[in-house]
Amino acid sequence: MSAQVLFTALCHTDAYTLDGLDPEGLFPCILGHEAAGVVESVGEGVTSVSVGDHVIPCYQARSKAQKLLLNGRRVSQTTTDNTVLDPSSTSPPQAYCADLEAQPCKFCLHPKTNLCQSVRAWTGRGVMKADGASRFTLDGKPLFHFMGTSTFSEYTVVHEVSVAKVNPAAPLDKVCLLGCGISTGWGAVFNTAKVQAGNTVAVFGLGAVGLACIEAAVEAKASRIIAVDTNPDKFASARQWGATDCVNPKDSATAVQQVIVDMTDGGVDFSFECVGNVEVMRAALECCHKGWGESIIVGVAAAGQEIRTRPFQLVTGRVWRGTAFGGYKSRVAVPQLVDKYMSGATKLDSYITHNMKFSEINEAFDLLHAGKCLRVVLSL
Ligand SMILES: NC(=O)c1ccc[n+]([C@@H]2O[C@H](COP(=O)([O-])OP(=O)(O)OC[C@H]3O[C@@H](n4cnc5c(N)ncnc54)[C@H](O)[C@@H]3O)[C@@H](O)[C@H]2O)c1
Ligand SMILES: [Zn+2]
Ligand SMILES: [Zn+2]
Repeated sequence: MSAQVLFTALCHTDAYTLDGLDPEGLFPCILGHEAAGVVESVGEGVTSVSVGDHVIPCYQARSKAQKLLLNGRRVSQTTTDNTVLDPSSTSPPQAYCADLEAQPCKFCLHPKTNLCQSVRAWTGRGVMKADGASRFTLDGKPLFHFMGTSTFSEYTVVHEVSVAKVNPAAPLDKVCLLGCGISTGWGAVFNTAKVQAGNTVAVFGLGAVGLACIEAAVEAKASRIIAVDTNPDKFASARQWGATDCVNPKDSATAVQQVIVDMTDGGVDFSFECVGNVEVMRAALECCHKGWGESIIVGVAAAGQEIRTRPFQLVTGRVWRGTAFGGYKSRVAVPQLVDKYMSGATKLDSYITHNMKFSEINEAFDLLHAGKCLRVVLSL
C-alpha cells in the first residue's frame, strides 16, 4: 500500500544509518521511520486499511490480526501483553501474521517476542516482498527502502503488516512520535523490564528514548530514578520528567557504575541503556543490584561493536536483556498508545522541541548531532 507521509520525526537510528554505522545499512536509500500519514492507495489483497485511513508506519511489522490460531482454533484477541501462551490456557492470545500469510511466522506465535518475521527478509534487503524490488527510483535507478518504512519522502510504499491504523482524530504531527522512540522507551519499562512500584531505576542517555523510560518509570511508581548523561544540559528536562537524581559520569573519577552502586546501597533494580555505546552498556549492567538487577539494552551500537563484562556479574544474578520497539506488538499496540495519548495520559507533546519543514532536514540532523533537540517533527 502507499501512504502520503504528512509528518516525520528524526530518530537517532536515522542519523546512525546515515553515518554508515549500521551494519545493515543499504545505500542509496530513503531513510525515515518515525512518521504518520494517510493511506493513498492499497494493492490487491490489502484488507486491513483503506484509502484515507490515518496510519503510523511500523518498522517492526506486526500482523493486523485481532485473532489467533490457538490449537487450531481461532480466538479473539483482547490483549497485547506478553502473557505466556500456555496451549491449554484460554487466556487472551497474541496477534499474528496469519491473516496475511497462510502460515503465521513462528515469532508471532511465540509469546516472548514482538519480532514478526513475515516481511523481515525483504525489509532487511530494502525491497518489497511481492516482487523483491524497490518502489523508489532516482534518475531511473532504484533506491532501497529503509526499515520497511522510508518516511523521508512525500509518498512511501509499505507492506500491509507495516502500518497501524490509528484514531483519525489524533493529531498526526504529535502521534508520529509513537512510531519509534517514545514507544520504545515506554515499552522497555512496561514490557521488557516490567518495573514495579517501589523499584529503583537508572536511565543512561537522556534523549527522547531515555526520557520516555523516565516517564514510564514515573508511571510505574519507581521509588528512585537516576538519570545519567555526559551532557549536563539534559538534566533540566530529566528532572522535569521525574528523575530524582542526575549523574554526570564526567563529574567523578570513580566509574559511574560504582557511583550508582554507592548511591543505592548495592545497585538499582533496573537500568536502561539509551545511548548505543557498549561501554555505557557495561556500566548499565554493573550498576544493577547483585542477585536481581536487570539491565535493558535499548541503544543501538555501531557495526562490529561487542559488549563485555565479567561473567561473574551474571553468575551473581544480574540479567542483561535488550528490547526492540519496547517489546510492543506494533500494529496492535500503536493504536492503543495513540488512544492513551488522546486520553491525555502522556507527555508526548513535550518531546517535540522543534517543528520544521522537510526541506530543513539537514538542519534537523545538525540539531540531533549537537544534542540540541529531543524530537524534530518535519512537515512534508
Ligand atoms: N531498541 C530500539 O528499538 C530503539 C528504538 C529507537 C531508538 N533506539 C536507540 O536508542 C538510542 C537513543 O536514541 P535517542 O533518539 O534518544 O538518541 P539521542 O541522541 O537523542 O540521545 C542519546 C543521549 O545519550 C547521551 N550520551 C552520549 N554518550 C553518553 C555516555 N557516554 N554516557 C551517558 N550518556 C551519553 C547524549 O548526550 C544524549 O543525551 C540510540 O542508540 C537509538 O539508535 C533504539
Ligand atoms: Zn527510531
Ligand atoms: Zn509474524
